Amino acid sequence: MHLIIQHIGQLLTLAPSPNALGEGRGEVKPNPRPLPSREGVKGLGRFGPAMSDLGIIEDGLVAIEDDKIVAVGKTSEFKPKLKFLPHTKVIDARNQVVMPGFVDCHTHLVYGGSREDEFEMRASGVTYQEIAAKGGGIRSTVKATRLASREVLKRDALKRLDRMLLWGTTTVESKSGYGLETKSEIKQLEVNRNLNGLQPIEVVSTFMGAHEFPEEYRSQNIEGGIDREGYVRLICEEMIPRVAEAKLAEFCDVFCDQGVFTPEEAIKILETASNYGLYPKIHADELASVGAAEVAGKVKAVSAEHLLYPSQAGLALMKQAGTIAVLLPGTSLTIKKNYAPARKMIEMGIPVALATDHNPGSCTIENMPFIIGLACLYLGLTPAEAICAATYNAACAIKRGDKIGSVEEGKQADLLIMDIPNYRYIPYHYGVNYVKTVVKKGRIVVG
Ligand code: NIG
Ligand code: FE
Repeated sequence: MHLIIQHIGQLLTLAPSPNALGEGRGEVKPNPRPLPSREGVKGLGRFGPAMSDLGIIEDGLVAIEDDKIVAVGKTSEFKPKLKFLPHTKVIDARNQVVMPGFVDCHTHLVYGGSREDEFEMRASGVTYQEIAAKGGGIRSTVKATRLASREVLKRDALKRLDRMLLWGTTTVESKSGYGLETKSEIKQLEVNRNLNGLQPIEVVSTFMGAHEFPEEYRSQNIEGGIDREGYVRLICEEMIPRVAEAKLAEFCDVFCDQGVFTPEEAIKILETASNYGLYPKIHADELASVGAAEVAGKVKAVSAEHLLYPSQAGLALMKQAGTIAVLLPGTSLTIKKNYAPARKMIEMGIPVALATDHNPGSCTIENMPFIIGLACLYLGLTPAEAICAATYNAACAIKRGDKIGSVEEGKQADLLIMDIPNYRYIPYHYGVNYVKTVVKKGRIVVG
């Protein structure tokens, strides 16, 4: 045992309560039959009242060996049983909160350039969609990303990761989608892969060639101005096979919305991706209600993101398919849009996760505690629900609910020590960094 954190004021284990039905089948009530095993039913995300159960232990203790958590419980109960060796580091966390590291399960981390000019335009009233229609937005970042070398993309992403780590993020999902041509999409994904060895945060890759239609497929001579079929073919016949073969991504995402990819195009791309072993994700109904939540349900997407305007039928299909709703309130704040109907989703029993959506245009936030604050202020989540959404449910949204997102025996030791007396301070005093120590894979990497 090389690290023991003891006398923890509030230890948020996020472990399922012994009374909850498995993953937390909506209601916390006595379990009529024994749980299959603590690990057996994980991975779908918590929903309903189970999202409010943070599995809090007062005067808690966590013991870590190598990269794993080996004991979790009350200090009084576990301390006498543990071996304190000369090399064991012991931290007292009285009056502090210990919790799982944040999982930022939706970002666009690797990109060239910046778009402060657009921020200034939006401040004076021009909308995000007006800027995009004039060739700005995603397409302007595509130009910069194509021109940027791998070295420059890596250098800039490393700075972002450094800041994310200081705010307590220990795992991040990172999408391509600023290349929109095979070689530049691959360049972004290779940078993602390289980032893993260079700093403590784990970077999980998503291929998102269907983020926009590139300039080469736009022409006045084509009906509608875009060769949609041609680009979808390039994605399905060239990009997905190459990405899958080189094992450059675990997920495939499509921006299915007004002015971008249609539900039919999204289904084609996501079904092709599934056939190549990439799990489907979808940017759904962010700008308008186009039937993208329905697509999420139909293709059994792991997660559907944004969801500002999902239809009732779409949400029902998502619920049936076990799709997690990844909500991104920082984007609504930045581009002055509505907020997703989060309470409705929680009432329907859809697991909700939170992420920053960090990108150069619609949201530059890198700070998960701030997102938790926004979720409480604008999505109507309680502090406990928001913490579950930013840790365990976020881990499930990238299919890592069995490894990270909670403090349980056998899980990877990704932990935060927060200098606050209780977890409610995280949203209550948002904007202030209370992260005192970050432990990643059992190693103290901050503090
Ligand atoms: O998630 N919604 C689509 N894509 C990004 C925006 C990317 C950009 O503006 O560069 C998002 O918000
Ligand atoms: Fe996004």
